[in-house]
Amino acid sequence: MITLRQLTKTYGRGGTAVTVLDRLDFEVPTGRIAAVVGPSGAGKSTLAQCINLLERPTSGSVVVNGEELSGLPEKRLREARRRIGTVFQSSSLLSRRTAAENIALPLEYLGVTPNEARARVAELLDRVGLADKAGHYPFQLSGGQAQRVGIARALALRPSILLADEATSGLDPDTTRSVVGLIRQLRDDLDLTVVFITHEMDTVRQVADTVARLDHGRIVEQGTLVELLTSHESQLGRSLQPRRGHAGPEAGTRTWFVTYDSTVVPGDWIQRVTADLGTAVHLLGASVETVHGVNTGSATLGIGTDDDARVAAALARCGLSGTPDDGPPLGPRASLGSADAVSGGFLAGAGRVRTGTLEDVA
Ligand SMILES: Nc1ncnc2c1ncn2[C@@H]1O[C@H](COP(=O)(O)OP(=O)(O)OP(=O)(O)O)[C@@H](O)[C@H]1O
Ligand SMILES: [Mg+2]
Repeated sequence: MITLRQLTKTYGRGGTAVTVLDRLDFEVPTGRIAAVVGPSGAGKSTLAQCINLLERPTSGSVVVNGEELSGLPEKRLREARRRIGTVFQSSSLLSRRTAAENIALPLEYLGVTPNEARARVAELLDRVGLADKAGHYPFQLSGGQAQRVGIARALALRPSILLADEATSGLDPDTTRSVVGLIRQLRDDLDLTVVFITHEMDTVRQVADTVARLDHGRIVEQGTLVELLTSHESQLGRSLQPRRGHAGPEAGTRTWFVTYDSTVVPGDWIQRVTADLGTAVHLLGASVETVHGVNTGSATLGIGTDDDARVAAALARCGLSGTPDDGPPLGPRASLGSADAVSGGFLAGAGRVRTGTLEDVA
């Protein structure tokens, strides 16, 4: 369990002082994965560094598993820090050490005997699925494998807290999914409390139990992932929804953007809305997924009536929130960016390169 109360971090003094964390309150219950999102410079990394006390807070309290860390003398603090593992974006492995030797580092600092260390490293390599990469140097590992080694190293001293600061940034979607899966598995097996800092909303939906948005040094919005995804009033919830491109509008219809706004949207809602309105409902685009057992998502519809109030009411009866969407379609596959051609970029398995126009690839 992590409890931050009125946490303030100010860098510098006098006229040049910058307050990066501003009387911030935040709590992560034991065994939960809390995602922290927010714009660049919001203070996310500073928050992580204050939790493991690599940065001393200017004021306020940091309580980890019932122990107030901010007032501890250096020796006790070093002990407390062992219970907090940290993983960074570039797993910051030592290039002259093998995967196994990198994982063994924290054990060496602690004076663990070589035999014990060897057994622990083997167990950790196995846990992160890299038993066959023990002797590989960082340059011989893929980005995802290096991150797994970083996670294993963070777990070497059996921490109860894991801080992940942009741990999946820069990894491709499949590798991200596998690293995220590993973190969730480790949380389940070891009852870890995890703070997962990221700017990738797709990753948040995969990993988080709760989400907090940090802005200007304060938590400005937070909630469980499901609460946020099923509330159209939540700005954070809306930003968590993928907004993909959609087909162009159809003649004689009005375009609507709808979001799942309840935990009980029926699976046949398109038929129900069609029957309710007695008019055509065209599906122009959609992104729907099950998150913690609840269907969430959004869709773009073409609806053959301009009676907006009736449409909104029919949608609401199915637990959906809708607004007329008069903007142009977002274009093909926003997730692949605005490229017309994808060349040279996609290295399929066994080193084969696939290229083509965006339409081919999509
Ligand atoms: N040691 C320091 N001295 C002075 N200012 C600092 C220091 N460390 C961070 N800052 C400032 O604190 C602010 C927040 O930085 P931080 O790294 O926590 O942001 P962040 O939310 O992690 O951003 P990003 O998403 O880009 O990683 C920035 O304006 C940064 O310049
Ligand atoms: Mg940062």
